[in-house]
Amino acid sequence: MSGIKIIGTGTYLPEFIATNEMFTKFIDTTDEWITTRTGISERRISPDKPNFVMAAEASKQAMQNAGVTAKDIDAIIVSTCSPDFFYPNTACLIQNLIGANGSAAMDINTACTGFISALDVARVYLAADVYKTILVVASERLTSQIDYEDRASCILFGDGAGAAVVQKGDGLYYSHLGAQGDMLKDLYCKVLYDRNNPFFKGDDMLKDIINTPQKERYLQMDGKAVYKFAVDAMAAAVEKVCADSGFDINELDLVIPHQANIRIIQSALKKMNVDQSKVYTNLEKHGNTSSSCIPMCLAELDKAGRLKRGMKICLVGFGAGLTYGACIFEY
Ligand code: UT7
Repeated sequence: MSGIKIIGTGTYLPEFIATNEMFTKFIDTTDEWITTRTGISERRISPDKPNFVMAAEASKQAMQNAGVTAKDIDAIIVSTCSPDFFYPNTACLIQNLIGANGSAAMDINTACTGFISALDVARVYLAADVYKTILVVASERLTSQIDYEDRASCILFGDGAGAAVVQKGDGLYYSHLGAQGDMLKDLYCKVLYDRNNPFFKGDDMLKDIINTPQKERYLQMDGKAVYKFAVDAMAAAVEKVCADSGFDINELDLVIPHQANIRIIQSALKKMNVDQSKVYTNLEKHGNTSSSCIPMCLAELDKAGRLKRGMKICLVGFGAGLTYGACIFEY
């Protein structure tokens, strides 16, 4: 199968910056703890703009950088696990704002792994010549799901969006996606349905793990379990795509990992035996923006002129599910 060609990238960052120091005003924490345990110094929070508006801004920038207009977009594939609506999906909301009426519009949710999954779906459509130009977007407003009394999780997350306009390419492309559904309880945020239906008897599917109404409302995470999973899963996914493609990891030009925690990234790199200079991170400034992390990194690198045609780029991530995935493609 053929590869992909990213012809333009874009990003949107909310203006409001929440520094580590700000968190010390309402939870028992310190800048020193957050920086040394996570690598994060600050993150952006969107107090006003909904997810789909951030997504549309990143999309417009990507289209402008690609030199395409809305009528060139055949499909919009969006990764999000923090949508503003159950329906319509975020892709339809973006389509309306950018004026791409008539394009296909679909959402994908593999949580923080989502951009890799969305790009993978786009690649299959492009390879089959179903669509010529696809807008792949990841947009997350995860801060709307966070319990700001939970000091272990609230310091990690930020908001933002990233987008890429993608066409069929001649270069190589290898991917590996997977999930371990039996680890659902380690990271989840449950949908809260209205309880005014007199026939509704409650939902005990997750009774053992969701034990109070208060807990049901927010993201729940076993940080240590996710940490351990992430290191092993990222290393294994990269090893798999390297083995499939026949590349040694150090033949790659650039590795962009999910920006969850600098210690997770460093441990995974050590396991993979990869040279740290090939790895790009921006979590110090943006925290963990879930599936937006990777396209935001791509857009930053693109803007800085650091992406060159022919570069071998590896994207690798993990997230709620628990999911994991990696791909190698020629830029
Ligand atoms: O996209 C995927 C999303 N999720 C993740 O990536 C999470 C992965 N996990 C992690 O990044 C880390 O496990 C955390 C950053 C969440 C926690 O770091 P840790 O080094 O695993 O700390 P810990 O859970 O072992 O906690 C150590 C101590 C505990 O206190 P005690 O029990 O030793 O007294 C925590 O209560 O640190 C305490 N702690 C804090 N202290 C100050 C937890 N959060 C904080 C905090 N400030 N914000």
